[in-house]
Amino acid sequence: MLLSLMLLLLACSTNKQDPTENKIDSLISLMTLEEKVNMVHASSSFTSGGVERLGIPEWTMSDGPHGVRKEHGRDWVADSDAKDSASYLPTGITLAATWNSDLGYAFGKVLGSEANYRGKDVILGPGINIMRTPLNGRNFEYLSEDPLLISKMAVGCIKGIQDQGVAACVKHYLANNQEYERNFVNVEMSERTLREIYLPGFKAAVQEGGALTLMGSYNKFRGQYCTHHEYLINKVLKEEYGFKGAVISDWGAVHNTLEALKFGTDVEMGTDLSMLPTPNYHNFFMADTVISLVKSGQVQESLLDDKVRRILRVMFKTNMFGKRAPGALNTPEHQAIALKIAEEGIVLLKNNAILPLTKASTKSIAVIGANATRKHAGGGGSSQVNAKYEITPLEGLTSLADGGITIKYAEGYRIVKDGKADKKLIEEAVKAAAGAEVAIYVGGFIHGYSDSWNDNAFDSEGQDKPSMNLPFAQDELIAAVLKANPNTIIVLYGGGPVDMTKWIDNAKSIIHAGYPGMEGGKALAKIIFGEVNPSGKLTVTFPKKLDDSPAHVLNAYPGDSSLNEEYKEGLLVGYRYFDTKNVEPQFVFGHGLSYTTFGYSDLTLAKSDKMVTVKLTVKNTGHVAGAEVVQVYVKDEQASVERPDKELKAFTKIFLNPGESKDVSLVLNEDAFQYYDDVKHQFVLEAGRFNIQVGSSSRNITLKGDIEF
Ligand code: GLC
Repeated sequence: MLLSLMLLLLACSTNKQDPTENKIDSLISLMTLEEKVNMVHASSSFTSGGVERLGIPEWTMSDGPHGVRKEHGRDWVADSDAKDSASYLPTGITLAATWNSDLGYAFGKVLGSEANYRGKDVILGPGINIMRTPLNGRNFEYLSEDPLLISKMAVGCIKGIQDQGVAACVKHYLANNQEYERNFVNVEMSERTLREIYLPGFKAAVQEGGALTLMGSYNKFRGQYCTHHEYLINKVLKEEYGFKGAVISDWGAVHNTLEALKFGTDVEMGTDLSMLPTPNYHNFFMADTVISLVKSGQVQESLLDDKVRRILRVMFKTNMFGKRAPGALNTPEHQAIALKIAEEGIVLLKNNAILPLTKASTKSIAVIGANATRKHAGGGGSSQVNAKYEITPLEGLTSLADGGITIKYAEGYRIVKDGKADKKLIEEAVKAAAGAEVAIYVGGFIHGYSDSWNDNAFDSEGQDKPSMNLPFAQDELIAAVLKANPNTIIVLYGGGPVDMTKWIDNAKSIIHAGYPGMEGGKALAKIIFGEVNPSGKLTVTFPKKLDDSPAHVLNAYPGDSSLNEEYKEGLLVGYRYFDTKNVEPQFVFGHGLSYTTFGYSDLTLAKSDKMVTVKLTVKNTGHVAGAEVVQVYVKDEQASVERPDKELKAFTKIFLNPGESKDVSLVLNEDAFQYYDDVKHQFVLEAGRFNIQVGSSSRNITLKGDIEF
């Protein structure tokens, strides 16, 4: 039989059309109905069915967005002797804080290479959902509040993954912006909000990144489940955006056979712990029921053929019928990339003359806080990684100090569920801080109390944070340590904004590390000692307090008693809200300090037809080499509709030696000026004056100029 198949494939390959499509045609023509159905649902917790008779392998998938997940065996049964360690990369929020799309590619390259090594055909990432609320438990996995930054970082990552011969699976399509009741919440938003904020990242992923698969999200949108959604999947994704790959449901996200068949689900995944010990794959919505629906004529088999075609298309594009690259695990190159991303993704928020420390003149350091020794890789839910190693801040600092500096550690607080202050620990920490020249406090959030699912805590899948407040009575500890030693550097791990109001005025230096991955402790130490000049920039606005945040001030989170959630803030997500409504954040979108300074000059705006070229010169006016993220925002001065005060429409990261200048040129295409007209159902460019704003953050604008259309 296989011989006849090969002859048939050979014959088809002489056909004029796309040879792959012809091969797919011939494979489908040979398949039985049962074999087709077998391909469109799970065959184990992380595989979907193949057709052995025709040489079609199972499709093997794995999480996650920042490392190849530990093995779950075929049905969530722990595969105890699995060789399942991997590189634990910085998580999405830290990757995006580099504002360096080249590092997005490098990140994807590591992820794809290690997925290949571990025999995975699809890696379930990147996660690109908009950070709409500071409380979303999975913000740490995601990238930003801004669609352009998301697009640029995601496209790099997708290309990096797929150039390794593995399919990316961009998730979660769409509007999965919280974990609270994620399986059932119904999101409502205006068409403009959808088109201008929530769709662009996915559009870029498909049209610029060439994403081969997308993951349908758990939640509903306008009353229909996203993973089988007539408008979002059939109309927008597959028809308008021309997506030719496969939509894979989130695990257990399919709720209706006919809708899944008709509204775009190509593969139903979803084995979960509740199905153990013997999951019955015939019970899936897109399993035996489909066979009877087709046989009874209620459903056309062609619906099924399209799904199989999409799966096979991805299989061919990832060379699953040929020889796959071997991939590699945790190589020195992978480690170097992880370090580089951490170095460029850690954000220096505040620095009144403490940093950088100089090794020669520093004699004693008190390192305080449970996060100085904590490892985070295994937590967070499905994005967990069985890290080959993870360098903690204390390890990084101790190693860099290499014996020349006395380092004393004090835990300061306990990571326990009651979260109460431990007086004894605080006293020890205060004593250590008082007895040292410098104190380095390392705290913030964690994923879970342990790595198990039912032990989740703050930055984790399946639940949102209770508030922006630091847990475990850290505010009291930080205040006490700052009082004992004003030369205290505050380092915060975590997936987003923190309420710092109780101590920020006394803190001279504050660093936001996100979750900087396996090399994070080393990167942090290098930044503190000035071996690396920080260049990270916030990808999300840090409000002073939660109630300043749009989704909260408008009471538009987490949804009403019937789980309907109207995104009342509309377009005004993140800085779009704070700038338009003149609300002062704690730290603004795009903010991040350097150990050097930069001067901007000679802005010119050259308009040709509907395109504007922005040129300027940036000079390193300080004494150390450094990198600057030049950000370009556009303000529609004469809009006839509501538009945000400003919107990020271009950026670039440049590296400059002391005294060096570089000319920067950025192009704003027509879409940088357009808004979505929900009457004409298209993006439009309205005549009038636009203000082009250039700077090093959304509010540190140094050059401006006007353009007329
Ligand atoms: C989870 C997550 C998704 C993950 C999938 C497989 O519920 O929402 O991001 O890829 O299931 O673990």
